[in-house]
Amino acid sequence: MSTKLFDLSGKIALVTGSGRGIGFVLARGLASAGARIVLNDVDADGLAAATETLREDGVDAEGVSFDVTNANSVAAGLRDVVERVGNVDILVNNAGIQRRYPLEEFPEEEWRAVLDLDLTAPFLVAKAVVPDMIKAGGGKIINICSLQSTVTRPTIGAYTAAKGGLALLTKSMAVEWAQHNIQANGIGPGYFRTEMTRRLHEDPEFDAWLCKRVPAGRWGDPQELVGTGVFLASAASDYVNGQLLYVDGGLLAGF
Ligand SMILES: NC(=O)c1ccc[n+]([C@@H]2O[C@H](COP(=O)([O-])OP(=O)(O)OC[C@H]3O[C@@H](n4cnc5c(N)ncnc54)[C@H](O)[C@@H]3O)[C@@H](O)[C@H]2O)c1
Repeated sequence: MSTKLFDLSGKIALVTGSGRGIGFVLARGLASAGARIVLNDVDADGLAAATETLREDGVDAEGVSFDVTNANSVAAGLRDVVERVGNVDILVNNAGIQRRYPLEEFPEEEWRAVLDLDLTAPFLVAKAVVPDMIKAGGGKIINICSLQSTVTRPTIGAYTAAKGGLALLTKSMAVEWAQHNIQANGIGPGYFRTEMTRRLHEDPEFDAWLCKRVPAGRWGDPQELVGTGVFLASAASDYVNGQLLYVDGGLLAGF
């Protein structure tokens, strides 16, 4: 089979929160399929270093720093992206945070911070990007959801509410924007080793529990999300819309 179906040459991909972690690896993966890359992060130093790393690897990359939770910053950031690079064909809503408290003690401002970044920001960025996608005749939106879009554990109520909401927001995007040839899908990572999960993978008890619980018997490597990302960004998924593809080493398949 030709790999042309997965070819992203000539496409511009914006990946939010890609100064490190899963977003950075996904951006590098989309670049390997031919896309021009716009990295975004609120951490300007991390973003500059990540952009430099991609450029050293020969990737056509720009870094645009803005806070995806703030509608004004998103609007200004998007203007900057369009002026410096061009219209976004592929949007990956990746920026996210985790906060852990028992539900009855969850500080309201922390609850709101999680909902703002993990649920409202994908709406704000998509809302800013989609008018240009409509004018261009189509586009791809990939929302980075989670295992916790459908199951949960104690202390992560805000994250679960946000990621569960994001899974359904993905369906809303799909049904409203399919008429414009825009496909919106989600990726649901299981447990991957990044800064976000450092506390967990450095905890021997959690590590042992997880490796026993996941049929694959190990943590995921962010590189293992790239195939799904390229698929959902490419013509190979043109009739796939509103789906959430879990990449979890089989975790959700058993209990
Ligand atoms: N690591 C996992 O196991 C895992 C599992 C499921 C889902 N996810 C999801 O994958 C995504 C990436 O997670 P990660 O593990 O790479 O996390 P990470 O903490 O390593 O990276 C998140 C990035 O988002 C950036 N960011 C934070 N606030 C921002 C803002 N307001 N505007 C722009 N950028 C901002 C951070 O600076 C950071 O670079 C998140 O949505 C997360 O919920 C991760």
